[in-house]
Amino acid sequence: MTKKRVALIAGGTGALGVSIARALMGAGYAVHVTAENAAIRDRFAAGADAAGVTVHVADFSKSGDAQRTLAAVGAPLGAFVTTIGGFAGGPLATLDDETLGRLMTMNLKTTIVGLREAYAYLKQQPDGASAVVVGARSALAGGAGVALYSATKAAVVNLAYSLAQEWLADGITVNAILPSTMDTPANRAGMPDADFARWPKTGEVAEVVAFLVSEKARIVSGGAIPVYGRS
Ligand SMILES: NC(=O)c1ccc[n+]([C@@H]2O[C@H](COP(=O)([O-])OP(=O)(O)OC[C@H]3O[C@@H](n4cnc5c(N)ncnc54)[C@H](OP(=O)(O)O)[C@@H]3O)[C@@H](O)[C@H]2O)c1
Repeated sequence: MTKKRVALIAGGTGALGVSIARALMGAGYAVHVTAENAAIRDRFAAGADAAGVTVHVADFSKSGDAQRTLAAVGAPLGAFVTTIGGFAGGPLATLDDETLGRLMTMNLKTTIVGLREAYAYLKQQPDGASAVVVGARSALAGGAGVALYSATKAAVVNLAYSLAQEWLADGITVNAILPSTMDTPANRAGMPDADFARWPKTGEVAEVVAFLVSEKARIVSGGAIPVYGRS
């Protein structure tokens, strides 16, 4: 029996992460996810999405946590996906230092740390490996009230541009996806009057990620892929 390709989804207990975990299991991967702390791990482990998935507790803003997780997952690593990130809005003039630090850390630092630590493991996949990071639609154009968020997500997308070139000779593809507002329980609760039908479903976005890490997408690297649904 051939050994399954291995995927690590950092942030894989979140809304999009769970859908990606499901999609990659469907694609035949052995799937590992991270939970930021033990309480989230236990909540995830008690739910239906945990079946067949290995969960690691790790804060990816901490290099040591990321190193420990990658070492536990082991080599070769076929796919590294990080969905860690979050939103904060408001005029830049009223931005406080706590929010500034939190978004820089959550959106940018965790992505850099994750990619850096995953590299040595991805490189060992003999038939080529893939990394996928999550930007956002506003990374391309910005917007009033979303300057900080958009800037951090633009930086995440730019990482994919650079690393696609830096890791080309290693056979590692690196792509970013750019979701618009997705259909998640948190977004439904926060915007109850929106037309949910126009939002991309996390399962639909996950299928795009599954394609990007598939054999069929070996020639796709350095992309920033829009996943906007009908919004
Ligand atoms: N939802 C949208 O409409 C939307 C639109 C555009 C882009 N995005 C991006 O898509 C990605 C996934 O969004 P989502 O809706 O699935 O968000 P989510 O449900 O909040 O998932 C993000 C996950 O990352 C975890 N996390 C946060 N900081 C971490 C850290 N330092 N170390 C390890 N894990 C950490 C969170 O854990 P906790 O639960 O402990 O915080 C959570 O499980 C994010 O990057 C987001 O910015 C989302």
